[in-house]
Amino acid sequence: MTGPSETSITLARRALARYRERGTDQADTPMPLPVSAYLDTERYAHEIEHCFKRLPMAIALSLELEGTSTYRAMKILDTPVLVVRGRDGVARAFLNVCRHRGAQVVPDGTGTGLQFSCPYHAWVYDDRGALASMYGESTFGALERSERGLRELTCTEAAGPIWVCLTPGIAFDIDDWLCDFRIELETLDLENWHLHAERDIPGPGWKVVWDGYLEAYHHNSLHQDTVGKFTIGNLVVHDTYGPHQRITFGRKSLKDLMDQPEEKWAPDEHIRLIHSVFPNLSISGVLGDHCLVSILFPGPGPDTTVTRQYVLAAQEPKTEEQIAATEGFSNIVLRAVRDEDYAMGFTIQRGLASGANETFLFGRNEPGLQHYHRMVARYGCWSGD
Ligand code: FES
Ligand SMILES: [Fe+2]
Repeated sequence: MTGPSETSITLARRALARYRERGTDQADTPMPLPVSAYLDTERYAHEIEHCFKRLPMAIALSLELEGTSTYRAMKILDTPVLVVRGRDGVARAFLNVCRHRGAQVVPDGTGTGLQFSCPYHAWVYDDRGALASMYGESTFGALERSERGLRELTCTEAAGPIWVCLTPGIAFDIDDWLCDFRIELETLDLENWHLHAERDIPGPGWKVVWDGYLEAYHHNSLHQDTVGKFTIGNLVVHDTYGPHQRITFGRKSLKDLMDQPEEKWAPDEHIRLIHSVFPNLSISGVLGDHCLVSILFPGPGPDTTVTRQYVLAAQEPKTEEQIAATEGFSNIVLRAVRDEDYAMGFTIQRGLASGANETFLFGRNEPGLQHYHRMVARYGCWSGD
C-alpha cells in the first residue's frame, strides 16, 4: 500500500493552518466586476467565441468511448460534433455535418459502428471521417472524394477528458494548454473510474453557474443539508496553473489532524480537491470513492446553460452497500447542484437586469472567482465596455 502523496500532506497542512487561524487563502483585495459582464449579449458572443470555441475544451470523457468502434454524437454550443474511437483506438472529432448538402449525419447519441451513413442521400463516411462511398456515384458527376470527408476538428485525449477545439483549422498542443496542471489531473486517474450516471442539468447563465463552482463561501449557508455537511465553509487553499486552478476545501474532520502526528495522517480523508480547467471543466472528489465531473456548455444567450454531470465511482458498485453508497453520492450532488446552486443561480439571473447592482464584488476570500474572471478577460479579449 502506498502512503499519502506529498501533495496531499502539503495541502492538508496548508488547510489546517488556515483552519487554526479561522482564515482562508485570500486575494489581495476585493474585486469588482460590472454586472454587464453577465448580461451583455455582444460581449457574451465575443467571449464564447474566444474562451470556448477557439480554445481546447473538454467535451466528453475518454471512458465514455469504451473499446474501439464507438462513437458519441452531440451538440456542443449548438455545433453538431461526432466523436469516434476508431478501429485503431484513437479518438477523433468531426463536425457532424454532411459534406454533400449539410445534413446531420449521425443522430445525437452513443453507439458502435465504423461507418456512418447520411440519412439524406446516403453518403457514407468511415471511422476516420473519409467519404467511403456514395449512393448513385456514377450519376453524380466528378468530385474529389478525398476533399469531401467530414470536417475534422483538432482532438486529443489527455488525463481523462477528450479535448476538442470547435473551430475547424485551429490546432492545439494539450501540453501547452494544461502545462503543469496535466500532472495534477493525471493523479486523478480518471480513465479508470466507473461511470455510474450521466445527466444534463439546465442552469442559468454561464458565469452565474460557474461562479458557484469556485468558492466555499456559500457552503455553510446554501448547502447546510447536503455537501455543506462535510465541508468547512469559507476555507479554501488556492493554487493556480496558468488559467486553471486547484481549489482545496477542508472537510469537517480536518480538525482531527491537529491531534495526530503528520506521519500518521491520512490527509485525503480530510480535504476535498476541486480541479477546475478553464473554461468549463470541474472535477471534484466529494466523498471517498466517488467523484463528480461537471462540464458546462453555455447556451445560445448569456442566460442559459446545460451542465453535463458525471457521477463516477472508483469501482463499479456491486454489493447492495456499494450501490447504496454510490446512489447516495449521486443524489446528494444532484440535490446540491440542481436544487441549491442552480436554484440560487436562477434567482441571481433574474435580478441581474434589475438595476440593483452595477457591479458584483468578489471578496478576498473568493480568489477562485477572481482568477476565473481575470482569465475570461485575458482570453475573451473583450474591449467593448
Ligand atoms: S446531405 Fe448528406 S448525403 Fe446529401
Ligand atoms: Fe455550491
